[in-house]
Amino acid sequence: MLEALWEKRVLLVSGKGGVGKTTLAAALAVAAARAGRTVLLAELSPEEDGPSPLAALVGARDVGPRVTRVRPGLNFVRLSAAEGHRHFLEKALPARWLAEAALRTRALRRFLEAGPALREMGLMYQMLTLLRHTRPDGRYAHPLTVVDLPATGHALALAALPQRVLALMPGGPIGRDVREGLDFLQDPVRTAVVLTSLPEPLPVSESLHVASELRRLELPLSVAVLNRMPEDPFTVESRAALNRLLAVHGPHQGAHALARLDRAHAASVRLRRELRAPLLTLPELSVTGPALAEALAETFAPRREDALWQEALP
Ligand SMILES: Nc1ncnc2c1ncn2[C@@H]1O[C@H](COP(=O)(O)OP(=O)(O)OP(=O)(O)O)[C@@H](O)[C@H]1O
Ligand SMILES: [Mg+2]
Repeated sequence: MLEALWEKRVLLVSGKGGVGKTTLAAALAVAAARAGRTVLLAELSPEEDGPSPLAALVGARDVGPRVTRVRPGLNFVRLSAAEGHRHFLEKALPARWLAEAALRTRALRRFLEAGPALREMGLMYQMLTLLRHTRPDGRYAHPLTVVDLPATGHALALAALPQRVLALMPGGPIGRDVREGLDFLQDPVRTAVVLTSLPEPLPVSESLHVASELRRLELPLSVAVLNRMPEDPFTVESRAALNRLLAVHGPHQGAHALARLDRAHAASVRLRRELRAPLLTLPELSVTGPALAEALAETFAPRREDALWQEALP
């Protein structure tokens, strides 16, 4: 299932607040880099200043609108509306220095930062610029980009934005570029939305709602991830035996854990049945921070050394 993801140009990691989007985005990028891909891990955050949880997870020291190298095959960028505005002014104005000068005027900056649509357009424009960027040999500089999206509302606004902008300015260089950005995001060959959820009833209901919004915006939902799945130590038989014992002996200390397991299973069944997308389950782990991202990456992809080692076997 993940192999198909590595073939995309963009993975949009979405989901409601606190479900593990940032952790998953970091883990996907680490796994892709380990599998020998060149990957750009991009943060799209409502705040462009301040510390970056995503950068911390992969150990990126430079947090800013310029792409920085974190380790071989893994680069990091914090998408910035101002950087996107600079790119589209460069395109719209006849000379680069004019764009720089225009951005230095306070009135224009205030204008560009005022409307949420213009801010989102800047973010999208920077993303598009990075996606288009090629090396001298003609290959893409960022063949695979993993985007950590903020909580769903904002992410969906970003996806809805091109349609709004297109209604305002259907022609011209910016209209054409926004059209290209929208085509990119809606193309299931190049883009995959990874919808993250937790194995509890409310998050699953929310995810199903997000999935219907994605469908409405014609964004390609490729895989759902049920994160923090509790470990189930029981076989069908041992669980049945336990249930028989509990029926006789009544309430017990492990009731909470058992109820959580049952909710998690029910959540997984419901998502699988109603989502019409492949479902990937990730375990609840006891580590946090960078160690968590590394450990989850481990569950995705075999290390390159392991692959070589396996190949070397007779
Ligand atoms: N598989 C896991 N096992 C254990 N803890 C996890 C797992 N996945 C995520 N967490 C923890 O859950 C918390 C929320 O994760 P994360 O910050 O990635 O969520 P988010 O969806 O990006 O949140 P936000 O909406 O605030 O951006 C973090 O403390 C993280 O360490
Ligand atoms: Mg996050």
